[in-house]
Amino acid sequence: MAISKVTIVGAGTMGHGIGEIIAISGIPVVIEDAYPEALKKAEASIKNSLLKLEKSGKIKQGESEQIMSSIRFSNDLGESVKDSDMIIEAVPEIPDLKIKIMKEISEKCRRDAIIASNTSNILISTLSKDAIGPERILGAHFFNPPVVLKLVEVIKSEKTSDKVFSETFDFIKKIGKTPIRVLKDTPGFVVNRINAPEALLLCLVVQNDFAKPEEVDALGKSMGLPMGPYELIDYVGIDTMYHSLKYYGDTLSPDYNKCTYYDKFMKDGALGAKSGRGFYVWENGHAKVPQANPTSAIDMMDIICIEINEAVKVLEEGITSPNDIETGIKLGMNRPFGPISAAEGLTNSEVKNRLIALSKKFGTDIFSPAKSIQDGKLKQIISSKPAGSEKKVQAQPETTKSEETPVILSRDTTTKVAYIEISNTRNNLISVDVINALKGHLEALWNDKEINVIVIRGKGNNLSAGAQLTQFVSGPMDFAEMSRNGERTYRMLSEIPKITIAEMKGYVLGGGFELSTWCDIRVSTPDAVIGFPEVTLGLVPGWGGSQRLAKLLGLSRASYLILSGQRFDGNYAENIGLVSKIFPTNEIEQKTSEFAASLASSVAPISAALAKRLMNKGSEVPADNGLEMESMAMGLLFGTDDLKEGISAFVQKRKPEYKGR
Ligand SMILES: NC(=O)c1ccc[n+]([C@@H]2O[C@H](COP(=O)([O-])OP(=O)(O)OC[C@H]3O[C@@H](n4cnc5c(N)ncnc54)[C@H](O)[C@@H]3O)[C@@H](O)[C@H]2O)c1
Repeated sequence: MAISKVTIVGAGTMGHGIGEIIAISGIPVVIEDAYPEALKKAEASIKNSLLKLEKSGKIKQGESEQIMSSIRFSNDLGESVKDSDMIIEAVPEIPDLKIKIMKEISEKCRRDAIIASNTSNILISTLSKDAIGPERILGAHFFNPPVVLKLVEVIKSEKTSDKVFSETFDFIKKIGKTPIRVLKDTPGFVVNRINAPEALLLCLVVQNDFAKPEEVDALGKSMGLPMGPYELIDYVGIDTMYHSLKYYGDTLSPDYNKCTYYDKFMKDGALGAKSGRGFYVWENGHAKVPQANPTSAIDMMDIICIEINEAVKVLEEGITSPNDIETGIKLGMNRPFGPISAAEGLTNSEVKNRLIALSKKFGTDIFSPAKSIQDGKLKQIISSKPAGSEKKVQAQPETTKSEETPVILSRDTTTKVAYIEISNTRNNLISVDVINALKGHLEALWNDKEINVIVIRGKGNNLSAGAQLTQFVSGPMDFAEMSRNGERTYRMLSEIPKITIAEMKGYVLGGGFELSTWCDIRVSTPDAVIGFPEVTLGLVPGWGGSQRLAKLLGLSRASYLILSGQRFDGNYAENIGLVSKIFPTNEIEQKTSEFAASLASSVAPISAALAKRLMNKGSEVPADNGLEMESMAMGLLFGTDDLKEGISAFVQKRKPEYKGR
């Protein structure tokens, strides 16, 4: 059945966002709510959001009006569901209310209509128990904010028909989202279920006074998470966490009831961001997190191991595949890695021993190793590769934007400039996937005659805050190979026969800074935050930084910057000759593009390629050999059309048109 009309029941945070995304995909939508003021609010929020999408170029100018006209608002349930192909329920997470609404929808809609619930946790079989036709009822769990987050869990209850499941799966793809298959009904499905033990752990950490929230959050941020775990609980709502834990206590394990810490927050109405106060005070949408040192009371590996443990239980129960777990956690939690790739870097006994220690420390079996881990079979159960990892390595010369790749290549053949944009988490952390994708893109550009200049930039406000340390948890040999792979990939930037430009903005730290040092030219914003923190973390710059910075700045200056771990800004970088141009922060992309285009149109490509090679290689060989290489390069250039064109244009006082021949 083609799904060509959809009704959303419940116009709140999720309902209006889901309605908006479906309307954007060109499908007419009715948004229904029992409360007229909720409908008014939803209408205003959608209008506002569409205008923002228009401004940012994500939808065409003027399109918002047309999209708005395809959304109808109603507070009559019967009238709004009666001729829809699909109804998505998004009323509050109160089981009795949801059961009642599902029944009512099933009575008032067409008998062949699909009914999906956006529940976060509740079993679909519970929600469909009083409804007519449970075979057409399933879960379609969108993530908040639905307009931004790509993930949708499609959940099958025992009674859902295969046809309804696959039609819904295809529909989710059609509206531009990434569905994962949840083949068995379980509380919390995949993402929330895997996070459930972590939610308990976080509660017990503060309940037992093992650490302060800000100390744990400082730890999370130092590991590259976009938000600390308690800040995230505040953001989502302490009430949501409270109700979820109670539900898991009733359905998964009574040990979830060991968390009593949130009772007082509930009593005081301190629910987090929405009430202005929770773990932290919230102002203008931001938590005021007190300055703190990262705690040593818990370890990020504790959290990673209990996530792996629950992921293994989900696999043992046949709920979904390793690929879908990895995709689910990455997209649903907006995280750079999931438990499957984390488990690939750990041994069975490391995970098992840690889980045994955790279950003793916190007095709960929820952290005890799952059967496969007990039996030493961690690697077998997580054995298939994470979704999309193969795709990312292979670059496509004409790649346009793809939300799944952590590095986006785009080519502008009119200006002869290619852009390689790191697009991995808020801080653009450099992961193994990022390095492999970068390598693929550079290989694809190597002999690309239509491109003269390559700009390396970061999506959003930062170039890159450095390596994604959470990936590098395995043994010494893997660590060494990871360093080697990064060095070899980064070095391609200094060897590729194109001019490479690093665009430095926001954080340019560690591995992000190293990336820029391999480029031929660096441009920066005045306020970029640049530095090598490695020696303060027990590391050394491991992607060529220890060698490359001294080449660029001399041993004295490089020694000071690497050994002090000092951060400095773009202005300082320009003063010491590291950066060649400073562009205003709010214009950096445009100015870099103009600069790159002007270089690409003025230099003879073969000359530029040979000149950069002479400089990079010449500095590694004795002067005599370097000079010999230079003479050979001159000889090579003699026969080129570009040399003839350069001289003719000079004599004729016109701009040369180089062909790269
Ligand atoms: N907020 C999140 O982060 C999030 C994320 C994923 C899933 N969910 C799930 O989505 C669902 C909705 O959550 P939300 O955050 O949008 O809640 P919300 O409170 O923001 O919105 C719920 C809406 O339902 C309306 N409503 C209440 N009773 C109704 C009825 N009888 N008929 C029609 N409308 C009714 C309310 O007026 C409100 O507008 C829940 O199941 C929740 O677990 C929420």
